[in-house]
Amino acid sequence: MNRKPLSIHDLAAMKRQGEKIACLTAYDASFSALIDQAGIDAILVGDSLGMVIQGQASTLQVSLDDMIYHTRWVAAARRRALVIADMPFLTYPDPLGAAMNAAKLMQAGAQMVKLEGARFEAVRFLVDQGIPVCGHLGLLPQSINRLGGYKVQGVDPAEADKILADALQLEAAGAALLVLECVPAKLAAAISARLSIPVIGIGAGIDCDGQVLVLYDMLDIGIGKRPRFSMNFMQPPVAIAEAFGNYRSAVKELRFPTPDHSF
Ligand code: KIV
Repeated sequence: MNRKPLSIHDLAAMKRQGEKIACLTAYDASFSALIDQAGIDAILVGDSLGMVIQGQASTLQVSLDDMIYHTRWVAAARRRALVIADMPFLTYPDPLGAAMNAAKLMQAGAQMVKLEGARFEAVRFLVDQGIPVCGHLGLLPQSINRLGGYKVQGVDPAEADKILADALQLEAAGAALLVLECVPAKLAAAISARLSIPVIGIGAGIDCDGQVLVLYDMLDIGIGKRPRFSMNFMQPPVAIAEAFGNYRSAVKELRFPTPDHSF
């Protein structure tokens, strides 16, 4: 495997060449190093840390300072994987506010920021400032109180059309990557085929351009129930480094997700 540090252009080339992109979340230097050494292509410092690190009920309690802190340690240990940092709840209310907050994550070592929803103006402004952006559509954990629970999005045809239209507009606004969370596999396949930027799925079926899982879910550790779309890569029992390697090959060889992990 080439150990050259990856950029958003390498991920775009992987989509063009039909190579699946393997991504995992991480929140500290030790896991970042192990994940990086296993050849995972992108590491997301997700605001899921509110749940798996802080033990909170949702991602809403995560602050920008929390994200900066964890991004710094993940970035310090990474050599090859692209580091993406989540912009937490209410840190992108308008384009300028988004840019000022994204700058802090980039200065902590992120190479891209991710924000949830149809925030086209903020995306365009960030990209104009030289900040690569990953969009996030489908299930939006920061809007969980409006959505009324962690459920599959885009089942209703009108809702599916809106997700597709938002995805196209995010791409037009300059997003270089899109995470699709918890949507029917058929919808994710259609969106992945329509967009030229890579689409990374979580609970979105096998036809996305790549996959992401929450680290603690795939290691089957931590509090709370694991989502149906996750898989326990520690079974049969293996070393953690091997679990990361197995996840990478399962994604690259289209063995994960299976229909059991999809909607
Ligand atoms: O915060 C996170 O870990 C995420 C993933 C669920 C994609 O956004």
